[in-house]
Amino acid sequence: MERFFATCPRGLETLLAEELAAVGAHGPRPVPGGVAFSGDWSACYRANLESRIATRILWQLAHAPYAREEDLYRLALAQDWPGHFDLSCTFRVQITAIRSPLKSLDFATLKIKDAICDRFRADLGARPNVETRAPDIRIQAFLTARAATLYLDTSGAPLWQRGLRHANVDAPLKENLAAGILKCVGWQPGMPLLDPMCGGGTFALEAACMALDRAPGLERARFGFECLKSFQSKTWNAVRATALARVRENMAFLSIWASDADARAVQATRHNLRMAGLEGAVDVARRDFRECVAPAAHGILVVNPPYGARIGSDEQLAALYPRMGQTLKHCFAGWTACVLTADVRFPGLLRLAPKRKTPLFNGPLECRLYEIPIVAGSARRQKTAQQ
Ligand SMILES: C[S@@+](CC[C@H](N)C(=O)[O-])C[C@H]1O[C@@H](n2cnc3c(N)ncnc32)[C@H](O)[C@@H]1O
Repeated sequence: MERFFATCPRGLETLLAEELAAVGAHGPRPVPGGVAFSGDWSACYRANLESRIATRILWQLAHAPYAREEDLYRLALAQDWPGHFDLSCTFRVQITAIRSPLKSLDFATLKIKDAICDRFRADLGARPNVETRAPDIRIQAFLTARAATLYLDTSGAPLWQRGLRHANVDAPLKENLAAGILKCVGWQPGMPLLDPMCGGGTFALEAACMALDRAPGLERARFGFECLKSFQSKTWNAVRATALARVRENMAFLSIWASDADARAVQATRHNLRMAGLEGAVDVARRDFRECVAPAAHGILVVNPPYGARIGSDEQLAALYPRMGQTLKHCFAGWTACVLTADVRFPGLLRLAPKRKTPLFNGPLECRLYEIPIVAGSARRQKTAQQ
């Protein structure tokens, strides 16, 4: 049994733990920023291939107390790096730290890198090259006030890079955050879903893939674990074949609607769906949000409106939000509106009361996911969830 740590956008740890349990992880334990679990290589490969929420799956090599850079050097030197990867592989070391007493994380990174090279030189008489942009091997150190953990990254490029999004727009959501939001609000395949500000179509793409049981990693060119000496190609091929066999090919309309006021966004969404072979599965239209009407009697409206830090001026947004509120009240009774925004003025300006408010991080940006049941004729405030 190996020990792993799956990282994810903050706020989605509990949902990730459920996902990991479903792919064979033992004892998934959510902590801020991710989920610790143990399992065999098959569980690691399945987590990489099937988790919609994880950002990376890290394989834990060592965990020990430390106080100085020298302790990190010794801990790294003691690891059997030549037993983990080939001299011909390029590598990179990165450090994440919370309350570390060390003065310079750059210097600590250098010490770990030196230890890896020294261990290779001692064992094989030569050292592998460092590559910061697209290394074969990523080594991650996590430092707290007193303990250091060394990991080998089994994912490589982050898992939200599904290989699905070909055309980009301003401020797209990461795929794993979009999938996590859909799970967080309880969307299930078959429920009507509308994103009326779809940008590049991230919600629609994720929802369609979920509905067709397409594992999110099926289109990726490769994973980090393929460069490790522990790579079990037979196990990986079996894991991939099982996921492929589950995919539903039915290309019928999936009750997913996506629209945007911007023609380029509509074009990008159409292009991304076409490239993913999902053209018929989603209805895409150019439409201003204020002209949207509910396409079904009930459903989930999920939206990531523009917000100040990314796009749109404060005044424009202060004008947009009340209009969104009016459209929701007049045209979406019976629906639940789920809105991700970093703008704390949002619920006040919308003039609708959320039943739940979940803190979520969109990268470094602290956001809230508001879930707002739209009740017929309800302009008055319903009971507000904790503000
Ligand atoms: C933050 S982006 C959405 C990104 C999207 N979730 C993605 O992952 O690509 C906000 C989008 O809202 C659209 N938008 C802004 N005002 C709009 C309006 N009044 N009606 C419809 N769409 C609007 C913008 O064109 C932009 O594509």
